Amino acid sequence: MIINVAIDGPSGAGKSTVARAAAQKLGYIYVDTGALYRTVGLNAIRKGFATDNADEVMKSLEGITVELKFSDGAQRVVLNGEDVSDYIRTPEVSMAASNVSAVPGVRAFLFDLQRDIAKNNSCIMDGRDIGTVVLPDAEVKIFLTASAEIRAKRRYDELIAKGSDVEYKDVYEDLIKRDYNDSHRETAPLKPAEDSVFIDSSDFDFEQTVEKVISVIEEKTK
Ligand code: DC
Repeated sequence: MIINVAIDGPSGAGKSTVARAAAQKLGYIYVDTGALYRTVGLNAIRKGFATDNADEVMKSLEGITVELKFSDGAQRVVLNGEDVSDYIRTPEVSMAASNVSAVPGVRAFLFDLQRDIAKNNSCIMDGRDIGTVVLPDAEVKIFLTASAEIRAKRRYDELIAKGSDVEYKDVYEDLIKRDYNDSHRETAPLKPAEDSVFIDSSDFDFEQTVEKVISVIEEKTK
């Protein structure tokens, strides 16, 4: 039997690391849908299109292919045949992803890809609209969040660990701006599905959050 788990929530709530670890423990594949929007954003930047202009964003989609590949459980994202997974985590691409994700045509472009993976695989899929739009019939829906300060601090630590030269203040301000964009856009805004389980990870460490997520999944699927 195929089980679909939707995990939605704002940037920096730890969705991806938590979902990846929970998927590994449960033997499901982990699907990071933010990587798809990041890839569309990267493509627009590379081609010189303004990511905050919907018409330009739609032009940037012409003739492109975006695919997800899974090797040893790890997801790779492929743009026009090139594995771009290592180029989509910069602050510039984060903001571009937030911008392009507000364009309905971009969401439509990426919809079938996400649906098809979930149809054929037990998976934990993370994003903003998975429980509300992409997988409204998911067996389990979780809304994972944490305070803005904690999310910004986690994102900052991650970027510093990767060797980026960033200031906490800039990371925090970016996050607030992305939160606003993601939850105020007209199409598929970030919001908890009515039947989702709300988890606030502000006071949990990573392991506790993974345990909580797994216990919700086990409870809902037993
Ligand atoms: O999860 P992330 O930070 O990698 O996502 C990047 C951007 O993509 C984020 O600002 C919102 C958007 N996004 C979305 O609109 N819908 C999704 N299902 C996943 C991400």
